[in-house]
Amino acid sequence: MPLNPFFLLILIAMVYHRKFSSPLFTVYLVMLCMALLFGSCKPDDPDIIIKKVIVDTALISVSSEMPPLVNFPDNKLSKAGIELGRFLFYDKLLSEDNTLSCGSCHNQAMAFTDNHKKLSEGTQKKLGDRNAMPTFNLMWLDSFFWDSRAARLNQLALMPIKNPLELNTTPEAVVAKLKLVPDYRLKFKNAFGNDSITPEKLALALEQFLVSMVSDNSRFDKAKRGELKLSGDEQRGFEVASQKGCFNCHKTSLFTDNLSHNTGLDRIITDKGLGGFTGKYNQEGKFKTPSLRNVALTAPYMHDGRFETLEKVIEFYDHEVIDNLGARNISLDFIEQGTRNRISPSDTKAVVAFLNSLTDINLVTNPKFSDPFK
Ligand code: HEC
Ligand code: HEC
Repeated sequence: MPLNPFFLLILIAMVYHRKFSSPLFTVYLVMLCMALLFGSCKPDDPDIIIKKVIVDTALISVSSEMPPLVNFPDNKLSKAGIELGRFLFYDKLLSEDNTLSCGSCHNQAMAFTDNHKKLSEGTQKKLGDRNAMPTFNLMWLDSFFWDSRAARLNQLALMPIKNPLELNTTPEAVVAKLKLVPDYRLKFKNAFGNDSITPEKLALALEQFLVSMVSDNSRFDKAKRGELKLSGDEQRGFEVASQKGCFNCHKTSLFTDNLSHNTGLDRIITDKGLGGFTGKYNQEGKFKTPSLRNVALTAPYMHDGRFETLEKVIEFYDHEVIDNLGARNISLDFIEQGTRNRISPSDTKAVVAFLNSLTDINLVTNPKFSDPFK
């Protein structure tokens, strides 16, 4: 319980007057209890709750409805570190033939996804096997990729470099190229205190940049903070999505539970997802829940980009979910309730309007996240 000034004052007065044994003791005791009771719990002030609160340093600001900032004890964020990460993210030196960067597949204008491509293409136009994921609000997550095969961003950061279907090279080869650029020597020195360039530092700098990408300024957020009112359709869409159980998995305020689910997309599972990574049969067909934030900018949808529009995704949830693997999944329970009370065309329109209200223009236009080579 926090100490408050009344409590301290009364305590000092008690000691000063040495009233511990006098009849006044009871009076003091009552005052002390009152001070403890009322002084320490402030009534909820609605202004404090809805106002945008900057919780941390000027480096990253997060509004009050988001989870608290996460600390990385072994990777202290700094302006120079984040800036170095931004250069690396957009530098084509990170690829085998200097043709691609992380930013080639994670385009800011599409909330850091791959230019509306179903599947990404790596160097030499080699076709990848999954739809590129957005890279914002990753600070709060502890599992990455559709199959959750990475648990920390500095571990993830070197994976696209080594992936034969992405940048197709080695961290050592990249480091050798970076060492030839005097500007990088300076940038590594500013970020980490000395100018040695190593794969570990490359990964830490990329992690810093990824962590800095926060998306919390959509119309939905502004409405939550009392800065505007959602339109009738947006509000109705939120309510429909809520009734239909969407937020069981796409949990507010990140709009993901960061867990994996089998949503019943296929009768025969080809991409095993989480099960492919863990080797567990009952995890086959499970994929990480993607955030619904900025989803209007990130078509096509699902791990393989099979649905071109949000209407198609809602149609799927409404009447195309398949009971695969014989496993009951939340999605299926949801759909069984859903079949009794299907999502009407006007409700579908409303859900799409709600999803559109999650678009954060600030994220896609913020120069802090943009390509420094342009
Ligand atoms: C060739 C296109 C391509 C390139 C280049 C690429 N990515 Fe990706 N990225 C993808 C795809 C596709 C996925 C989903 C892969 C999967 O789940 O198996 C992904 C997933 C991710 C994720 C996971 C996000 C989440 O929510 O789990 C992060 C983070 C990421 N990439 C960062 C990077 C970084 C950093 C680089 C550069 C070092 C990079 N990517 C380069 C296509 C690319
Ligand atoms: C059982 C948990 C669960 C429920 C319930 C659920 N989703 Fe999903 N959602 C997921 C998972 C997991 C994926 C990714 C599936 C995949 O790619 O295989 C996904 C994908 C999506 C996507 C595509 C996002 C992208 O970036 O590709 C949208 C949009 C979406 N869901 C909206 C909804 C809506 C609207 C509802 C309610 C009608 C809903 N979800 C209910 C777990 C769920």
